[in-house]
Amino acid sequence: MSAESNNPALSREAEAEARHEDLVDERLVAWYFLAGLGYLFISMLGGLLMALQLVQWNPLEGNEFLSPGRWRMIHTNAVAYGFIANCFLGALHWAVPRLTLRPVFNRHLSTFIFAAWQVVVLSTAAGILLGEAQGIEWGETPWWIDPLALAGLALVALNFMAPIVKTTGPLYVTIWYFMAAFIWTFLTYAMGNLMPQYSVPGTSAGAIAGLFIHDLVGLFVTPLAWGLMYYFVPILLKKPIWSHGLSLVGFWGLAFFYPLNGIHHFLYTPIPDFLEHGAVVATIAVEFVVTTVVINFFGTLWGSGRAVVTNLPIRWFYTGMVLYFITCAQCAMQVTLTFQKLIHFTDWVVGHAHLVMFGVFSMWFFGMMTYLFPRLLKQSWYSRSLCEWHYWLSVSGIVVMFIDLTLAGVFQGYYWASLQPWEASIDGSHPFWVTRVFAGLAIFAGQIVFVYNLWKTWSLGKVAQPAMAT
Ligand code: HEM
Repeated sequence: MSAESNNPALSREAEAEARHEDLVDERLVAWYFLAGLGYLFISMLGGLLMALQLVQWNPLEGNEFLSPGRWRMIHTNAVAYGFIANCFLGALHWAVPRLTLRPVFNRHLSTFIFAAWQVVVLSTAAGILLGEAQGIEWGETPWWIDPLALAGLALVALNFMAPIVKTTGPLYVTIWYFMAAFIWTFLTYAMGNLMPQYSVPGTSAGAIAGLFIHDLVGLFVTPLAWGLMYYFVPILLKKPIWSHGLSLVGFWGLAFFYPLNGIHHFLYTPIPDFLEHGAVVATIAVEFVVTTVVINFFGTLWGSGRAVVTNLPIRWFYTGMVLYFITCAQCAMQVTLTFQKLIHFTDWVVGHAHLVMFGVFSMWFFGMMTYLFPRLLKQSWYSRSLCEWHYWLSVSGIVVMFIDLTLAGVFQGYYWASLQPWEASIDGSHPFWVTRVFAGLAIFAGQIVFVYNLWKTWSLGKVAQPAMAT
């Protein structure tokens, strides 16, 4: 008996394959991924400019519009709303119709959302460069774009919920994650962008901002990303997920504990202690939940371990999972008040942020793109060895950057605690900041290799397709 006929989810996937053309708008999936990659490059340029400025070599010195403070916001916003959001939308346009066996609500609406989202991201960038940024971390989107972004998020939910509502049969865990993410993302965005601006003043606004930064990661990025892992990994390994029960523990654990985490960004602040302590407990609880999820995926890999060597998307996915586990283990430590005393405001946090955003979620996107682009372009990769280069440059870059910034954070913490003059900590940080520039260049080089490989693959496809038709 084949794996497909043994398992309802896999046999559904076989049916989706047969009806693929009616279900998936491939061109749109490709456009979303390409837009995402475009923003990734803008973001990396911003990151490199910031990194250069920190080693006192700002190539754009004196240019107010392109000052490092503004580039920093372009760096983070282009990653979150440009790269990550576009890649999610691309992957959702592939996964949701195939899982539900129904197309999205309306294909024209999908195209409209694609265009509207690019307007949102580009106007955000323009607003930031013109000095219009809203004073909320990750919510710098100028206030006049917020209603448009919220309308866009509501339309995204409508477009994907329509096939989900109409689907028959049990709802696979991926769909649970997606449904929750559509609701949470809308609410989180509204909370972070509207409440501190219009209704909640002072320290309370700080508490909301803390909830917002972390809920964006935990209630927008995390559920969509894990939902996609639950979708792609069983398909690629051609076997069901190890434990359906554990996957539900992961989902409900996230739903229950994650929303309270955000205030852990503001320990030792005037925010009431009971809220800070609540956030510490909730964060540690999330680490247990995360462990169940990671165990479930490694249980699924059990017996198919060679796939990590031979199957590149699987390698990207599982590398991201290992780094995810490290990020979360780190989180459980750094959330304690003892640890916070040392690392608060240091580069430790920046290392942690890069590990999760690039080491985990970006790796998963690269895995998805490595798997999907040959399908979208009807052409296998131009060069497997360039795919390997993409992987190794990205992984070595992020591992070096993470270790470097983590160490920098510990040193900075001790410098500050020793009450030496501030300059001493700047001088001590210099070697770490120089190393970050090189780690960043490795990451950048990895993506150039990827885009070159993609372009060559596309060119080959264009030549091969007319030839196939004759
Ligand atoms: C070309 C490689 C990169 C370089 C050189 C770089 C450099 C930087 C620098 C200098 C900062 C500001 C740190 C500070 O304020 O002290 C930063 C912040 C940040 N970067 Fe990057 N970055 C790179 C790539 C990325 C990528 C690919 C992502 C995500 C996928 C990312 C996510 C972030 C995040 C989330 C922050 C905010 C960190 C925080 O506030 O704690 N970076 N980056």
